[in-house]
Amino acid sequence: MTFRIGIVGAGFLTRQSLLPAIAEAGDLSLAAVLDRDPETLRAVAAGFPGVWCGTDSREFLRTPLDGVHVATPNRRHAEFACRALARGIPTLVEKPLADTVDGGQWILRAAMASGAPAMVGYMSRYNAYNRAVVELVRSGRLGTPRSITASHLGHRQGDWRNRRADSGLGCLGDLAIYPLLTATDVFGAAPTACRATGYPGGDPERTDIYVEATLWFGDGLRLQLESSFTEPPGVGVSRYTVVCEQGLVVVRDSWAMNSGGSVLVCDEQGRRWLRPEPVDPYVAQYRTFAASAAGAPVPAEVSIPRALRDLRVLHALERSVANGGVRLALSGGQNP
Ligand SMILES: NC(=O)c1ccc[n+]([C@@H]2O[C@H](COP(=O)([O-])OP(=O)(O)OC[C@H]3O[C@@H](n4cnc5c(N)ncnc54)[C@H](O)[C@@H]3O)[C@@H](O)[C@H]2O)c1
Repeated sequence: MTFRIGIVGAGFLTRQSLLPAIAEAGDLSLAAVLDRDPETLRAVAAGFPGVWCGTDSREFLRTPLDGVHVATPNRRHAEFACRALARGIPTLVEKPLADTVDGGQWILRAAMASGAPAMVGYMSRYNAYNRAVVELVRSGRLGTPRSITASHLGHRQGDWRNRRADSGLGCLGDLAIYPLLTATDVFGAAPTACRATGYPGGDPERTDIYVEATLWFGDGLRLQLESSFTEPPGVGVSRYTVVCEQGLVVVRDSWAMNSGGSVLVCDEQGRRWLRPEPVDPYVAQYRTFAASAAGAPVPAEVSIPRALRDLRVLHALERSVANGGVRLALSGGQNP
């Protein structure tokens, strides 16, 4: 028996990463694809003969599915996730959880009312290099962590991510979310305060294209990040450095979509590379999803309550940008 997946939204993510992951894994199968664009659907159908590809959401939800993956622009996440959950179908929602905090709350309520599990698509948490860094730092072998400095930069112009109504947040929701997740994992704590500046800030129509921010994780732990949509086309920068009392770690490309990365450790023994076995994060994510659909608990770090907390943090950063970089306290508690 394969795990039958229905995907809503056959855009960049689906064609670049989700369909190849399903095709590669013998225990996963593509059952249905829903999109509003017939041309996009024709392209998918050509590569997956026999798979239901259509524009009618009611027909999509009537297809026998073991799980629904919502991969539309952010504004549509809540609508499709809530409908799948209302039918008792296990649901995986792309990041960020929704465009607005209200949208995220609707998903949380639908997940609580549904008998089916729900989780968020935090693929960077399955990346082997990020996992190796978390394991190393949390082992204590480099001493107490102190700070993370991160850059996650890309190019998006004329995209739905540039429009508040479709996306909610710009580079904050698209790129800055990755340093936030990694810092939460490395520090093993939730952010307690933040401040940010950026451009444009508080614009009713346009989302942020540049943000620099500081997040504090209790006493003494700090994430300094930069994210932007202002790189040249085709350029993506993914880099972070974790400074600990007895060493540091420099990580490149581990937030990219290609399973890759590099980790350089510098400490009293000198410099060395960590070389974990790469894994396809999208296959790993689907296996976690399938396990949850079969009854295993949804891991806390990809749960809907955690995704809603992250969304609140991103919107707090947006409020700080709109208010000239004011420092804001964050609530939401520590990681379990
Ligand atoms: N986890 C990751 O690695 C990763 C990477 C990229 C994007 N994402 C997330 O995935 C989501 C999609 O991003 P993308 O880059 O693929 O966007 P995209 O614009 O390339 O694709 C979105 C697709 O959704 C379809 N769509 C829009 N409205 C629809 C509707 N009402 N009904 C059915 N289909 C609809 C569009 O026709 C398009 O094919 C976003 O939430 C984004 O943040 C995640």
